[in-house]
Amino acid sequence: MLVDLIIHSAKELITMQCDGKPKMGKQMQDIGLISDGAIAVLDGLIVEHGITSTIREKYQAHEYIDASGKIVTPGFVDPHSHPVFVNTREDEFAMRLAGKTYVDIAKSGGGIRSTINTTRTADETTLFNLAAKRIWKMIQLGTTTLEAKSGYGLNTESELKQLRVIQALNEALPIDIVPTFMGAHEYPAEYKENHEGYIDILCSEMIPAVATQGIAEFCDIFTEAHVFSIDESLRILSAAAAHGLKLKMHADEIEPIGGAELAAKMACISADHLGAASDAGIIAMKEAGVIPVLLPGTLFSLRSKNYARARFMIDNDLAVAIATDYNPGSCNCDSMSMVITLACLQMNMSPEEALAASTINAAWAIDKQDIVGSLERGKYADLLIWEIPSYRFIPYHFGSSHIESVIKKGKVIS
Ligand code: NIG
Ligand code: FE
Repeated sequence: MLVDLIIHSAKELITMQCDGKPKMGKQMQDIGLISDGAIAVLDGLIVEHGITSTIREKYQAHEYIDASGKIVTPGFVDPHSHPVFVNTREDEFAMRLAGKTYVDIAKSGGGIRSTINTTRTADETTLFNLAAKRIWKMIQLGTTTLEAKSGYGLNTESELKQLRVIQALNEALPIDIVPTFMGAHEYPAEYKENHEGYIDILCSEMIPAVATQGIAEFCDIFTEAHVFSIDESLRILSAAAAHGLKLKMHADEIEPIGGAELAAKMACISADHLGAASDAGIIAMKEAGVIPVLLPGTLFSLRSKNYARARFMIDNDLAVAIATDYNPGSCNCDSMSMVITLACLQMNMSPEEALAASTINAAWAIDKQDIVGSLERGKYADLLIWEIPSYRFIPYHFGSSHIESVIKKGKVIS
């Protein structure tokens, strides 16, 4: 059979093959390694993977890539980012070094609110150009699928503007970008003393507009002691679900207020952060099939000692995913490789678990498991060719990239 592309002779082909389920608990160790591996690609999709001799016997191709001595992995799926904003906040980084906490800074007018004004007044082209530049860096670092949130507009017009920018980025850039509405990221300054008023606008104006325009797949919320309470979150998430949006939560990042439990109750696709989640909340998430998306870069950048308990989650059979949480405040990190290193060093995940968390389980966290996250028949040929001696080099090395090529739907994009 004639195909478009064969990538062959890979020293290690990491397939992340799975049986239509996320990799749970011990299964995260099984990365589907094939020595001397090859992949046949037609129309951007994987036709077959296997050992080189078998693939080359069955297929001829218009183009061949010789991956001798190299490592091939699925492209990274980054399931949590906030890339659409104007100003960066390096001054807050310095304030944290001087002893202020993230919550102190947020309460004194910094934090998310300080990104709102510039994002509200920026036009779509400005926002697009800034975000496109940031996302190109992510692509060069191996991200082939990205989830991106609104949440720096906090009024109907500006939230919709951010979502239109995400839609335009998805059309213009060579990777897939999954849009999430996050109007419940913070209370805007004008509703600081009127939470009811803002929740009314969220539920009766913003969520219906987002759903009617079909401009977001997910609704996310920052459920935390200083932002949206459990009761407030329940109301907002219920409205989003009633309008057909899939659910995500920023849950129990700093304080254990029952966010993980609510994620289970609401059958969220994912609950993210979880640095302070309770045992009961984690077990409830397991029972409800909620994917935990852990963000070790954020806790690293916030200088927290309380990393999410990845080992407890894996021991209890959850399907852990990891993400950058790229944003201008708590985590200005665009590198999934760096996050893999932090997952290993700060959360005691093994190299195999961290790779499963950044590919197949990350695809489950954004409901894209049918098309990305593993190198299997029928999925997009999204993959990375690495100039490294083994896959274990990925967490071991940090600081620069050893990715030779980034391939999206069978085309070299970087
Ligand atoms: O995931 N937690 C809420 N949102 C971001 C922070 C955004 C910001 O500080 O601008 C996060 O850490
Ligand atoms: Fe976030």
